[in-house]
Amino acid sequence: MNRIGILGAGRVGTAIARSAIAAGYDVAIAASGPAADIELLVDVIAPGAQAMSAEDAAAHGEIVVVAVPLHKFRSIPSTLLDGKVVVDTMNHWEPTDGRLADFDAAPHGSSTIVQGHFTGAQVVKTLNHIGYHFLEVDARPDGDPARRALGIAGDDDAAVRAVAEMIDRLGFDPVVTGALRTGTAFQPGTPIFGGHHAAADLAAEAEQHLGTSSLTGATRA
Ligand SMILES: NC(=O)c1ccc[n+]([C@@H]2O[C@H](COP(=O)([O-])OP(=O)(O)OC[C@H]3O[C@@H](n4cnc5c(N)ncnc54)[C@H](OP(=O)(O)O)[C@@H]3O)[C@@H](O)[C@H]2O)c1
Repeated sequence: MNRIGILGAGRVGTAIARSAIAAGYDVAIAASGPAADIELLVDVIAPGAQAMSAEDAAAHGEIVVVAVPLHKFRSIPSTLLDGKVVVDTMNHWEPTDGRLADFDAAPHGSSTIVQGHFTGAQVVKTLNHIGYHFLEVDARPDGDPARRALGIAGDDDAAVRAVAEMIDRLGFDPVVTGALRTGTAFQPGTPIFGGHHAAADLAAEAEQHLGTSSLTGATRA
């Protein structure tokens, strides 16, 4: 999978666009309006990415990254991402989102609710627990002892593999924690969220959070 569509041209979306272009991906990016509204911004902030409408960026991506504020994700039509591997970077972040009742009461994590909206897509949670400003500075080649790990959770094995490959190409060790609900291990409030972990440390933190019985195997992909 070499084509990435990114929905959201803010801090996270443009940082992922730059990293993905550096990794050799063919990248399209969209905000909520027409492509023309963000063409100049994209040329300056994420050169090499193509500014598109959300519909066109979604169609472009074999992997579609959703990087919009969580309280706005339902403005993306639920069928727009049918058949896609969807990377959910979003967090329930009260200063931005306010209190969202359904996310407050989400024992299996915010991404399971996102999956419930995009029923025709395979949602994979990752890239939510690294600050956008670290994506480029912390990227390292495979095997570098200082390489940082990122958690990955998803229900579909093929989608998880595609996203793990993407994370590796972006310069991070992918650590698959298991099913989508295991993404609770790297949501806000956990040690992994905002922390800087090597792969073994991240897997150990996830195991501790989830308990060995609920974790099918925290493994480096
Ligand atoms: N900030 C971080 O370091 C960080 C790290 C990891 C994850 N996250 C998560 O990543 C998400 C994005 O955060 P951010 O800081 O990048 O937000 P941001 O800078 O406010 O950017 C949000 C972007 O989403 C776009 N958008 C809104 N509705 C859309 C739609 N229906 N279709 C396409 N684009 C749409 C906005 O476009 P318009 O201007 O046209 O509305 C804007 O370009 C949040 O859920 C956040 O919790 C943040």
